[in-house]
This record gives sequence, C-alpha cells and structure tokens, in this order.
Amino acid sequence: MQKSSWKRRLGRVGIGAAAVITALGVFTYERATRKLEAPYPAIVASKDLAVIERGRYLVEGAAHCGECHGAEEPPGPSRLGRPMSGGMEFQLPVGTFRVPNITTDEQTGIGRLKDEEIARFIRYGVKPNGQAALPFMPYADLSDDDLTAIISYLRAQKPVKHAVPEHEVNPLGRIVQAYVLEPKGPRRTPPKSFPPAATAEYGEYIAHSIGNCVMCHTKVDLRTGAFAGPLFGGGAEHEAVKNPSKKFVSPNLTPDPRWGWLQGWSEDAFVQRFHAGRVHADSPMPWESFQGMTTDDLRALYRYFKTLPPAQTGPDPREHQVVLTASND
Ligand code: HEC
Ligand code: HEC
Repeated sequence: MQKSSWKRRLGRVGIGAAAVITALGVFTYERATRKLEAPYPAIVASKDLAVIERGRYLVEGAAHCGECHGAEEPPGPSRLGRPMSGGMEFQLPVGTFRVPNITTDEQTGIGRLKDEEIARFIRYGVKPNGQAALPFMPYADLSDDDLTAIISYLRAQKPVKHAVPEHEVNPLGRIVQAYVLEPKGPRRTPPKSFPPAATAEYGEYIAHSIGNCVMCHTKVDLRTGAFAGPLFGGGAEHEAVKNPSKKFVSPNLTPDPRWGWLQGWSEDAFVQRFHAGRVHADSPMPWESFQGMTTDDLRALYRYFKTLPPAQTGPDPREHQVVLTASND
C-alpha cells in the first residue's frame, strides 16, 4: 500500500539518519577528546623566596586565581586567601564545568602534574591529557619569569585533599570542543621577563594578560570569544555574584570626554579607588584581589587607559550609581 510504503521509506530514512547521527556523534566525541599539539614551555618552579613572593603577589592580586579556585566555605563575596582546593561550578550552555583543586595534593590537586604540564596549560590552554581547556583563564601572554613565579607559589602551598568531580560536558559542549575550541596560545612570543614599572606598556600587560580587565570591560561574542565592541568600551553585562537575575554593566574605561567613566578621575583618585575596595556587594569584579595591587601597578593601568582610542559606548557616567546595575526583576 501507498501509505505503508511511505512509512517504510520514512522508517528507513529515520534509521539512516539515526545511523548518520550516531556516526557523527562518535566522530564528534573522538574529535572533542582528540589530543592537541602544543610545546611544553621550559618552566621550572623555583624555591627562591623572592620568586615565590612575586608569585603570591600575582596569584592573590591582579591574577585573582583564588576567586575561582578558592574553597567555597564559608560563603562570602571573595574567596581570596583560602586554600585553592576548587569546587566552584559554572553552569554553561555547554555543560557544568568545575574549577579544579590546584593545591599540591598528590591525588586530587596539582601534586601529580609536572611544572611543564602546568605551564603548557596556562600558556596554551592544552590540558595535561592533551585536550583543549575552555577559555576561562587569560594568562597565555605572561612572561616566562611571571609564569615561573606563579607555579613556584602554587608549589609552595599546603596540600588539601579535595576531589572535585569531572566536568559534565553535554552534546553541544562536545560539538564546541570538537569544532570551535582552538587553544589560542600567546599573541606573540612571551618575553623572558617584564619587570613592573608605572608605564602604559606595563599597564597593558596587566589589563590584558594578568587582570583580565579587557574581557569584562569590552563586549565579547560569547560564542567565539572575539571582541564585539570597542576595546575597553564597556557595556558588557555580567551577572551579579550569586544572583543571575541581576546584571551589572561594565563601565567604559577609554578617555572619551562624554562616555569615559574615568573622566575627571585623577591618577591618585584611581589608585585610591582600588585601595578602597568593593562598593557594590555583589559586583563580579574581583575588588578584594585588586585591592592589594601596588600603587605603581595601578598607575600603570591608569596610564594605559589614557592611551586608548576614545569609545562612545557603555553605561552613562552621568548616572553613576543607577546605570551600573540593571535588574531584570
Ligand atoms: C575565571 C575563573 C578562573 C580563574 C580566575 C583561574 N582559573 Fe584556573 N581553572 C579554571 C577552570 C574552570 C579550570 C578547568 C578548565 C578546563 O578543564 O577546561 C581551571 C584549571 C586550572 C588548572 C588545571 C588543573 C588541572 O588539574 O588540570 C590550573 C593549573 C589552573 N587552573 C591554575 C590557575 C592559576 C595559576 C590561576 C591564576 C593565575 C587561575 N587558574 C585562575 C578557572 C579559573
Ligand atoms: C569579572 C568582570 C570584571 C573584571 C575582571 C574587571 N572588572 Fe572592572 N568592573 C566590572 C563591573 C561589572 C563594574 C561595575 C560594578 C563595580 O563598580 O564593581 C566594574 C567597575 C570598574 C571601575 C569603576 C569603579 C567605580 O567606582 O566606578 C573601574 C575603574 C574598573 N572596573 C577597572 C577595572 C580594572 C583596571 C580591571 C583589571 C585590573 C577590572 N576592572 C577588571 C567588571 C570587571
């Protein structure tokens, strides 16, 4: 009969499609879990106290590692200064991602990893097992010396046993891992060393390669990670801490006379603003970590922002308090 033959044909198409989808799924899984090639940087952790202290300054300061890796308990706006035993969860469209334990524990932390594996992960976004990491961490352009200092500080931590469950990557996540995620690596050959100085060049280094200021204060296309607005033009929405229904809008940090948030701030006022710390209780900006930055590092940032092309975007600086927080409820 006409009808049943259609059914049969449809059935056959269905089985065919299912087979294709299964094959694609297997192929995607294999591609998503493929091993990537990236060099192992020649980084060796040091026991030199000055190197470890530089690492502490970066990890607990501008690089704010503890804000993601720090222990969850007790709850509070900042995880700074807690053991970096991990566990924080990111619920993303691609799955649930969990921040790993980076204390020196042999079983559950980075005690099991070699220095060069950690260095490759931070510089090239390739995990020790050869798979691509999601781009959570912006430190690819750190100088060799700063990367050494950070790893040396991690090695000087006490071990904390805390097993963080694996990520749960959903089918969309597998597709992203298979076809979208390409570990970026450094923008240029990282310098051997980049000594701190109150200059615009050093400010650029903090803003792009240590503090991640750029990814929050610039609009970013979340699918590709590419900039979708002028550099430091602000206007990017960020969820409030522990309250996804409330959003913060990042201010424009360019020197635009009308839209620049820092117009009228002197360099000293900028430094004081950071040393004063958090104003909005649930702002996602890691103020507690940034509060410990040196005056020279903050001056460097201010001088860098002054060199940016002015952008006419972002929340209106004339409505300072009101525009900063836009609530959906
Ligand atoms: C925005 C949150 C965030 C910040 C800030 C952050 N990390 Fe991570 N880190 C993660 C996530 C998420 C992963 C897991 C990535 C993955 O598996 O794709 C990770 C993985 C790691 C790993 C790999 C551990 C392993 O067992 O494979 C190391 C090492 C690490 N981070 C060190 C650091 C250091 C050092 C800093 C600061 C310089 C830092 N992280 C800052 C979120 C963060
Ligand atoms: C996780 C996202 C995020 C990161 C990283 C971030 N910011 Fe922000 N920033 C925000 C948000 C949101 C606001 C508005 C809420 C507030 O003032 O806390 C803000 C506000 C500011 C302000 C205005 C403060 C005021 O009192 O009006 C300055 C200046 C600033 N950020 C500079 C920086 C610099 C410099 C860095 C890097 C060292 C940085 N931000 C990193 C999200 C971020």
